[in-house]
Amino acid sequence: MNESNCPDLTLIARGKVRDIYSIPGEDDKLLFVASDRLSAFDVILENAIPSKGKLLTSLSLFWFSKLASIIPNHLILPSPTQPNFDAFPESVQKYKDQLEGRSMIVRKCEVIKVEAIVRGYITGSGWNEYKKSGTVHGIQLPEGLVESQKLPEPLFTPSTKADQGDHDENIHPSKVAEMYGPQLAGEIERVALALYNAAAAHATSVGLILADTKFEFGLLPAPPSPATTPSSDAPSSATPHGTLILIDEVLTPDSSRYWSLDKYVPGGPQESFDKQFVRDWLIAEGKKAVGGVKLPEEVVEKTEGRYRECYERVTGAKLA
Ligand SMILES: Nc1ncnc2c1ncn2[C@@H]1O[C@H](COP(=O)(O)OP(=O)(O)O)[C@@H](O)[C@H]1O
Ligand SMILES: [Mg+2]
Repeated sequence: MNESNCPDLTLIARGKVRDIYSIPGEDDKLLFVASDRLSAFDVILENAIPSKGKLLTSLSLFWFSKLASIIPNHLILPSPTQPNFDAFPESVQKYKDQLEGRSMIVRKCEVIKVEAIVRGYITGSGWNEYKKSGTVHGIQLPEGLVESQKLPEPLFTPSTKADQGDHDENIHPSKVAEMYGPQLAGEIERVALALYNAAAAHATSVGLILADTKFEFGLLPAPPSPATTPSSDAPSSATPHGTLILIDEVLTPDSSRYWSLDKYVPGGPQESFDKQFVRDWLIAEGKKAVGGVKLPEEVVEKTEGRYRECYERVTGAKLA
């Protein structure tokens, strides 16, 4: 499904991947629908990748549950006690064919305009910067690192969250403190690192490396009610700005670089677990960051296979 079409619901936004609707009579919630759209080099491709939206949704649900003891999150439904689409509001039930398996009801919140990136390995834009200046997001690193090398410690390396059409810009962590004050900035960094460390440990246990990932956070005005806190021992991240919660998608191949542990060879780029075939094909065809591109069926199939393999390895489950 490339685009959802739910005319009786109000579409608030269409992101690169997600369609976001309001829910009649429930102003504090959003319907969050993961389409099968694929973006590469920040451009959306013509093809949909079958099952991608369902795989991403199921993977986010897995991680929300696994990480709930670190920080509360925006997920309301599906929940462990109400796992089925039947529990969704009546107004969305009529779109079951489109929405089932790829939708979440989430708590609407004020989005923090920072992409909370954590890097455990030096690659991508971090590696490009290091080659030029020996720094990553302005943070000085030891000399002599090679591409894809494990960093001495995972680094919090935020970027701005650009408006649609613009590119995110890597920033130094101190910039977050300038934007949101030291207390909230410190909390974002602490939580992002804790989430990365927990996720990276799980990834290792299933033969994957979590090279880096991006989290998004939001603020709720009031401290979470007991229903918001998935686990009673989950620490509440209350700050003067409100309560910090984890939002968006979590630890999917779209927001993270997963590598296969058994294929890992530092000193060069690694195969990524998602869009490797797409990026390779776009570069080979000279269509990098060009609009309106249609991928060959073979590239679509292989890409779906990568998303599915990532989902199955991380969760140990299979998606119908
Ligand atoms: N709980 C939430 N409340 C409000 N906005 C949210 C929430 N969770 C995620 N978002 C926003 O919804 C959008 C998700 O759609 P997506 O297709 O991923 O967009 P993008 O193209 O910006 O990555 C993001 O802009 C994200 O910041
Ligand atoms: Mg996104």
